[in-house]
Parts: sequence; C-alpha cells; structure tokens
Amino acid sequence: MDNVQTNKSLHEQRNKVIAKGNASGTDRYIAHASGAILTDIEGQDYIDFAGGIAVMNVGHSHPKVVKAIKDQAEKFTHTCFMVAPYASPVKLAEKLCKAVPGDSPKAVMFANSGAEAVENAVKIARYATQKTGIIAFESGFHGRTLMGMTLTSKVKPYKYGLGPFAPEVYRMPYANCYRCPFGKEYPKCNVCCADHLEEFFVSHVAAEQTAAIIVEPIQGEGGFIAPPKEYFQKLKAICEKNGVLMIADEIQTGMGRTGYMFAMDYYGVEADITTVAKSLAAGMPLSAVVGKKEIMDSVHPSGIGGTYGGNPLTCEAALAVFDIFETEDLLGRAKLLGEKLQARLHGMQEKHALIGDVRGLGPMIAMELVHDRQAKTPAADKAKALVQYCLGQNLILLACGTYGNVIRFLMPLVITDEQLEQGMQIIEHGLTAIS
Ligand SMILES: Cc1ncc(COP(=O)(O)O)c(C=O)c1O
Repeated sequence: MDNVQTNKSLHEQRNKVIAKGNASGTDRYIAHASGAILTDIEGQDYIDFAGGIAVMNVGHSHPKVVKAIKDQAEKFTHTCFMVAPYASPVKLAEKLCKAVPGDSPKAVMFANSGAEAVENAVKIARYATQKTGIIAFESGFHGRTLMGMTLTSKVKPYKYGLGPFAPEVYRMPYANCYRCPFGKEYPKCNVCCADHLEEFFVSHVAAEQTAAIIVEPIQGEGGFIAPPKEYFQKLKAICEKNGVLMIADEIQTGMGRTGYMFAMDYYGVEADITTVAKSLAAGMPLSAVVGKKEIMDSVHPSGIGGTYGGNPLTCEAALAVFDIFETEDLLGRAKLLGEKLQARLHGMQEKHALIGDVRGLGPMIAMELVHDRQAKTPAADKAKALVQYCLGQNLILLACGTYGNVIRFLMPLVITDEQLEQGMQIIEHGLTAIS
C-alpha cells in the first residue's frame, strides 16, 4: 500500500485524520533520511536546512545513534526510571552536568519534550525559592503547554484563542539590537536593556516575589536575536543581587547549535537552571532540566518526574550524540559551518536589498527580510515566498520571527560543503526570483 502512495494522496488522507492545528509546513512525506538529505515517498531528495527544527545537529540516521537505539530495543524499551531504574540516565546525567556551563555541582531531571522541561524548570525554581513570579521576554518562545505558551510572547499562532494563561508571568523587553525596544544603538546604549531589570522589579513585579527569569540565550522562534555578550553577565548580576534565579532555555541553542556546546559558554554565564531538548537525542523525545544541585534537590521525592522521562532508548541515543561530539569534532565542524554561512549571507546582503539584517552566533544564523532597509518594514510575504520557492527546488527552509520575516538556518552540522553550496545557490536564485 505504502509504495503506491504519493505525497498528494497521503496529504489528502492526512487531512481527514490529523487535526488541522497539528499542521506541517510542507506536503512532502518522508520515507528516509541520511545526513542532511531527506527523501520523500516518491523518491525525491531534499537538502534539509531545517534539521527537524534544530533537532538533527548530528545528522539524520547517524549510524551510531541508530545502533544505540537498536541495541537498547533488543534489551528492553521501558521499565520506568521511577520504578525500576537502569544505567543510561545516570551516565547521561553525568555528561550533562559536565557539559552545561559553570563549575557548580549540578543534578538533572529528565522529561520528554522541550515544553515539559520548561514546565519543570519553573516548578523547581518556584519550589527552591518559595516565590511565584516568573519573568519572560518579548519575542521569547518556550513551547505549547499551558506554562510554555504563557511564557511565549508571539500571539498568533501560539496563544490566540488558547487562553486563559497561567498566572504570575511578567514580560520584559529583550536585547534586540536590530529593533531596539528602547530606541537606542549598541554600544552607545551601554546595554541599558539589561539594567531595565532593576526598574522592572519596581514597576512590574517585586524581586521578593520573583522566582526566576527565563531567557533564551539566542531567541529561536523569535528571530535568532542574539544579545551583545555583556547582556547576560549584567542580567545575571542583577538576578544574584536580588535573589532571583536565571533559567537559560537552551532547547534550541544547545547541543552545539552555536558552535559552542551551549550558548551560555559563549556568554560566559552560569545559569541556575538550564533546559535542554531538541538535538540532545537526535530526534528521540528526550529533554532535561540541568540545575545547580541544591536547587534541583530542593524538591521532595516524586514532586517532579513522569512515566517516560529518561526512557532507555532516548538516553542511549543521547549518549551516542555525546560520543559523536567527542569523536567527530562536531563543535569544530559547527564553527567552520558558521564561518561559511556568515560569509555567504553577508555576501548576499550586499547584493539583495531585501536582506535587512544577518545575525546569530556560529551556524545559528538568520537573515531578516525587510521591504525597506531604512524603515525596516517586515517582509513576511517575501519570507513565505522564498520558503515556497526553495521547496519547489527541493530545499527545506524555515521562517521564524515575531513578524514571520526571518529565514533561519538549522541544517545538520554534518552537512557537506557541496550540499551547503547547492542550498545557498537555490536561496540566492530565490531571492532574485521574489525581489
Ligand atoms: C527555546 C525553546 N524552548 C522550548 C521549546 C519547546 O520545545 P518542544 O517543542 O520540544 O516542546 C522550543 C521549541 O521550539 C524552543 O525553541
């Protein structure tokens, strides 16, 4: 039955049984994938610049990941770590405690998705501080569960009509140098957007009632907004002065995406709690909350957890991911990829007026499309057109941003030079075609 199905027929079938809200960006149905290439059920190949939204940093179907999952599946698939534990979550927690920035002793809890990690990070921060307020940021994204969507900033499609939202969440402007919410210019601004936290404690929520701020080191869905280096150091210092925890949501930035294992390595800041998911287990549903040990241990037994958290298949996959980073110099490859992307995109920006900004850290890079460079009018229509053009040329590309006008690059870090160049040429032709 499968081999006679086309993308079109499967799409029609899907529309009958999959909820409309559970939407897909393309109507190409994947049969198999390898490295940075996806192959659909009709045998067409696509260069993957999306990586399943930042999940496939080690590449699709990496042999070590596949072997780890197969080997574990033959032993057992589930006993529940809360009932009859096993070794892989322990080994993986050791790796995570070492890899997450900062020298403080740490501990880990495992869950299944990014949003679930965020939920737990908030629970733990509240328990440890015995305070309730959480400060999130404009254009931030933290998932689609009740707390996740409450913390998320963008209204459509993530929040619209889906409330009411969780209480005790406050929202502060972010360090967005391209569209500065304070109308200032870096570095003359002296990063006053970080100092604003002091004022925020006066005008929005008292520090004495604030458990934590939750921040993406580089905003992902929000448009790959990368603050100046000193921003997080300033923010952390204010948090510490006021007894407020910092939760770094590294779900998109983590696991080598920026050329650093975690983006906070670049910023030189140790968060109190870090959330990790996406590329942690190469597509297996696994997330982690990694925090300072005294904070993590503050919660009573069984106050956090879940049936599947730390599932053995997912943990073995994640151990294989760490092994790949260690043995295949994936961070080195990421840094090189970042340099190539930076050079290529800045070159395109010189030729195409549509590209208002190129920004990011390492290979976590994006270009913001605008109709007018002076007025910075968001060109969401052009971003959409470019994504569609590229799909027609067998390149999977993703848009993001509060205004939907940012094109982001999230290809597997193992992409070959040839595949990368092929993809960039498609984009370059696309920019000409839609201009
Ligand atoms: C920074 C960040 N936090 C949380 C999430 C939610 O993760 P998940 O979709 O696995 O629930 C995402 C997903 O894009 C994310 O980018």
